[in-house]
Amino acid sequence: MRGTLEPNRRDRGTLLAHSPAFFIRDLPIDGALILAPLSGYNDQPFRRLCREFGAALVYTGLLSASGIVYGSPRSAEMLRFHPDEHPLVGQLFGNDGDKLAAAARTLETHGADVVDFNIGCAEPKVVKGGYGAALLKDPVQIGYLVTRLVQAVRVPVSAKMRLGWDAASRNYLEVARILEDSGVAMMAVHGRTAEQQYGGHADWDAIAEVKQAVRVPVLASGDVKCVADIARIRAHTGCDGVLIGRAAIGNPWIFQGRDLPDVPLSERVPVILRHLQWMLEFHGAEQGLKRFRKHLRRYLTSTDVSRQQRHQWLEWDAATILMAELAEVATRLPTDIST
Ligand SMILES: Cc1cc2nc3c(=O)[nH]c(=O)nc-3n(C[C@H](O)[C@H](O)[C@H](O)COP(=O)(O)O)c2cc1C
Repeated sequence: MRGTLEPNRRDRGTLLAHSPAFFIRDLPIDGALILAPLSGYNDQPFRRLCREFGAALVYTGLLSASGIVYGSPRSAEMLRFHPDEHPLVGQLFGNDGDKLAAAARTLETHGADVVDFNIGCAEPKVVKGGYGAALLKDPVQIGYLVTRLVQAVRVPVSAKMRLGWDAASRNYLEVARILEDSGVAMMAVHGRTAEQQYGGHADWDAIAEVKQAVRVPVLASGDVKCVADIARIRAHTGCDGVLIGRAAIGNPWIFQGRDLPDVPLSERVPVILRHLQWMLEFHGAEQGLKRFRKHLRRYLTSTDVSRQQRHQWLEWDAATILMAELAEVATRLPTDIST
């Protein structure tokens, strides 16, 4: 097991060449740029890649507490962590204290460095079950569930929230204080209500208010589309860290402070190939390629690769052919195709 079971973690942090950006209780975090939870994208290969590119911390996507407790095959796959992806936040959703506590212990046993509680997912199937952002309507229940999680594990517990259910019930300060009083060691705030889904603008002022209201580290999320936005959101909110969400898809270079148009195709191809290789190893040939396509589509944006060529690469149903083609293209770069 990891986490606080290792003694003197803070001491270890202070021995680093540079001081950590912040601590999640006693866990040192060596930077402010963090891979956001992105269900459907941030599986083990993508988390590993983002860590390699400099993400200081990575989240899993949503993990169902019930799925973990009942040992569903999907949950088992999502609990396979790689040594290179730590420090890692495992994110749970649920609304049953016993199941959440049991799932949190399983996450800890599998090596999660932090157990996160989702109170922000606004997907219809999640809120219909009374999970995720639906819990924002019942802050007392949030307090109870977080307390159960904190009591269940030795690693730190965090939570990721939205600003409230809708414009008329933006209870983010109340929820943030309840989270802190219940023992979270960090919270992430997506600056939208559940009703907004991903529309409109993220309210960075509200995130700044949360940062002012609590003592634990706060991570800001929403509308970070490019490198310049990272400095803007940090200055605006004073937050300890920034979650990079959609902007990381197809662009792990963002963790190195580079926007995708600044990365030539010749530099992208070896990364695309490595990412694909890891996907095939992790998910198997068929599923690995299928799940990789949405990453590939994003990797190929803002290049001179023709529409037709892009289409062909996205259509291949044999990874070996796609890999051979990309490798061949790489030998011709940057003269034939370049950004
Ligand atoms: C495809 C997708 C999947 C997401 N999955 C999760 C999730 O599993 N858990 C969660 O807390 N947030 C999830 N989010 C929300 C993001 O973590 C983030 O808060 C939001 O996208 C705003 O940040 P961005 O503008 O940088 O993408 C997801 C967002 C997207 C677009």
